[in-house]
Amino acid sequence: MTSETLQKARDFEAQYGPHIPDAERPAFHATPTIGWMNDPNGFSMYRGECHLFYQYHPYSNEWGPMHWGHLKTRDFLRWERLPAALAPDEEYDASGCFSGGAAELPDGRQLLMYTGVRRAHNEEGFIQDVQTQCVAIGDGVDYEKWGGNPVLDGKDLPEGGSTIDFRDPKVWQDKDGTFYAVIGNRTEDGSGAILLYRGIEDFKGELVRVLDRCHNQYGRMWECPDFFPLDGKQIILTSPQDMTPIGLEFHAGNGTLCLMGSYDPEKGFTRERVQAIDYGLDFYAPQTLEAPDGRRIMIAWMQNWATVGAKPFHCRWFGQMTLPRELSVKNGRLYQAPVRELERCRGPAVVHRHVLVCGETNLPGVQGRVLDMTVTVRPISQGSYRWFRLHVAKDGQHDTVIRYRPDQSTLKIDRCRSGLPHDIVHTRSFLVTPRGGEIELRVVLDRFSVEVFVNGGEAAASAVIYTRQEADAITFEADGQALIDVEKYSLVFDGGKEG
Ligand code: FRU
Repeated sequence: MTSETLQKARDFEAQYGPHIPDAERPAFHATPTIGWMNDPNGFSMYRGECHLFYQYHPYSNEWGPMHWGHLKTRDFLRWERLPAALAPDEEYDASGCFSGGAAELPDGRQLLMYTGVRRAHNEEGFIQDVQTQCVAIGDGVDYEKWGGNPVLDGKDLPEGGSTIDFRDPKVWQDKDGTFYAVIGNRTEDGSGAILLYRGIEDFKGELVRVLDRCHNQYGRMWECPDFFPLDGKQIILTSPQDMTPIGLEFHAGNGTLCLMGSYDPEKGFTRERVQAIDYGLDFYAPQTLEAPDGRRIMIAWMQNWATVGAKPFHCRWFGQMTLPRELSVKNGRLYQAPVRELERCRGPAVVHRHVLVCGETNLPGVQGRVLDMTVTVRPISQGSYRWFRLHVAKDGQHDTVIRYRPDQSTLKIDRCRSGLPHDIVHTRSFLVTPRGGEIELRVVLDRFSVEVFVNGGEAAASAVIYTRQEADAITFEADGQALIDVEKYSLVFDGGKEG
């Protein structure tokens, strides 16, 4: 049965969503049907298709009582819109259906597991959240919330665990057939922990263990965890709140964290390495799925909570997802590359090799706003340039700049002049590994974003831009003399040519 609250959301999006012209949206990044989007939810395969749900408030371009919006795709690039899947229509989720996951049940139905939020007065009379884990079951379009909800609540927490911050279940079926979930929680020291539960297929959960704990070292509350094996390592992804910066690796505020290690069912998770997931301005709450061909693919909300106030005037959609990325582990690091399906959308190549850049220059055929371009930069002799700048989305007033400094091995992304005239963080720098003085930058542009993949994916940096679309020049600039190779492809979707 579709509740009145869900039906209202479905009617609203069906009526007003189609009013937003395609040209006002990204060409291949997922956006809400209408209104507000935050975290990806339930990013998973179901009956051979990839489903993506998302935190959704259809009625405004701001966060509000959370629904789940719904999209699906066959190629991670073209998104089919489905009606909203969940609405806050029960006592236990009256204040929102927060983030969660999805999985295909053995009987062919689709399981959604999410955080139900309700508000209650605490002993001092203060209003605070009560967060529990709930399930809904459906056929890929319509979902019924389980009559026995919630599946997990305060009694299922380890000692000291907070019921105010107990959220974001990511559910999956393991090789042994069991359904597991990882869930974020705040512990007695005020900081985060990741809990592992099993037995979700029976709409209950038995706490297996605390997988890892923050101990106030990397932020405070850990949101939106994920947990999976990758290339012989075990990976935890999580999104910490209230991070204190650490060098150029972690910035202040809402960050992203990859914990790499090993997992032993007896002993648990052993953390070996820690790194940020994305070094740009806009990236949060990533989720992964395992594709039928074995690839581990990640998508994230391409936005930062600290900057959500900066949006185009009267926009009818706000919030978009990153390009889905293939993950791997190389040299002890998490690597990311755009899904290979992107290559099938490339138009003819524009290639320039061994171009000497000295001052600022443009190159024939290299411009556009929807494209996939790889630029390799090297010195003509040791120390022949002090910095190299790649300018994209450029006209007389605007540009978005990616700057490399070989002496510091830093890359900086700067979107000060990218159509967001708000006093917010616009630049971020991070360390990269020079390969004998050479650096490779793969830049994927869509109408409202730039994503940079460095040296085959050792680091990625994402940023939202709202530069007017006519600003489509690309230039290359060096302080000194640099040699570059450029390979640029316009990206073409559904017959329409772009870039
Ligand atoms: C992360 C988050 C989640 C929560 C959701 C609410 O961005 O805060 O922890 O479930 O957003 O919309």
